[in-house]
Amino acid sequence: MRVLITGGAGFIGQRTGQLLLKQAHQVTVLDNLSPPAHDGPPALPAGMELVEGDIRKREDWVKALKENEVVVHLADYHDYLPSFSKLFHINAVGTAILFELLLEGKTSVRRIVLGSTTAVYGEGKYRCGKDGDVYPLPRRVDVLERGVWDPPCPICGGAITPMITDESVTRPTSAYGLSKLAQEDLVRLLGDRHGIEWVILRYGAVQGKGQPFQNAYYGALRIAALRLAHGQAPLLLEDGNQLRDFVDVEDVARANLAAITGLPPGAYNVATGRAHAVIDLARTLLRIAERDLAPETPGRYRVGDPRHVVPDVSRLKAEGWEAQSGLEAMVREYWQWLQQQPNLDTYFEGADHLMERTGTVRVAR
Ligand SMILES: NC(=O)c1ccc[n+]([C@@H]2O[C@H](COP(=O)([O-])OP(=O)(O)OC[C@H]3O[C@@H](n4cnc5c(N)ncnc54)[C@H](O)[C@@H]3O)[C@@H](O)[C@H]2O)c1
Repeated sequence: MRVLITGGAGFIGQRTGQLLLKQAHQVTVLDNLSPPAHDGPPALPAGMELVEGDIRKREDWVKALKENEVVVHLADYHDYLPSFSKLFHINAVGTAILFELLLEGKTSVRRIVLGSTTAVYGEGKYRCGKDGDVYPLPRRVDVLERGVWDPPCPICGGAITPMITDESVTRPTSAYGLSKLAQEDLVRLLGDRHGIEWVILRYGAVQGKGQPFQNAYYGALRIAALRLAHGQAPLLLEDGNQLRDFVDVEDVARANLAAITGLPPGAYNVATGRAHAVIDLARTLLRIAERDLAPETPGRYRVGDPRHVVPDVSRLKAEGWEAQSGLEAMVREYWQWLQQQPNLDTYFEGADHLMERTGTVRVAR
């Protein structure tokens, strides 16, 4: 099969491309090699054809689409900084241009696989003793400022418990999540209307070796490991008890492969089904790295973060996919890989300062 991977020079794209090449598929990559993921041309696996270009430019899509039958759309902009318009220019407009070209009928594309995110759920599903299943509102900054982390029931205001969240209700709490949902809606609506098959994969927190440490703006393991490589304890957001589902990049690449080669159209969560507190991830890292330090939780928080993310993976499991790697192996592999990387110093403090300067990361009073 001929497959185009946008963002194929990135973390998930390269792994997906490698897996496709192993199975004798043909792989083209459309990528503008932009920072922070790249600080120079990457060494792409042999066999991948690179079209250096931008998904905001029609002519670059045209160069890359050629005879490709499937587009795995991973190129995007993602961060928590107040770069709201950039999120929509790249994520939504870039996707809309693809559909304009598909409708002109000059391509061979019959299926789109969109790399999306569990950030489209926002707080996801919770249970209230009084009101049953509820979907909390985004947490208010004036409440976070007081160091109150758990969202209240949106109906009675009482305490609620996080539940696993299936694919049905989307309510993003960040501009990134909103821009990914806009991307999803375009793919769903225009795909159905114009006969292009689509699969949306909502990844949990993807981890693994090769995750660009240059992008120290998000990614709990990457940030904690980068600090540890400089002899500093992991500095966690909130109280560290936020739940996240950390999924290995190799497992994500296998899910992409399944979506390329035949998953029934629809949206699927891609995660392990075993959520962990961020503080447990940090403790696992400290144990593996054999450092006598403790995670620090001085009450910092990131505006737009959901408190917990606990995705339901039963839909994808029913299709025969299951995560194979666990937290321990993911952390070990990343830590070992990170220590072999050059120039870690260059990226260490810049991201943190920028997040604080722009009010993206704040400290509770
Ligand atoms: N890594 C995660 O934890 C995670 C979690 C959920 C969803 N996702 C989604 O997975 C996809 C891939 O993420 P990743 O972790 O591999 O990110 P990454 O930053 O490693 O890769 C993204 C790639 O897209 C390219 N790119 C960015 N803007 C572009 C543009 N305008 N035109 C062409 N190329 C452009 C970058 O150069 C980069 O190579 C994204 O859509 C992201 O939203 C990732």
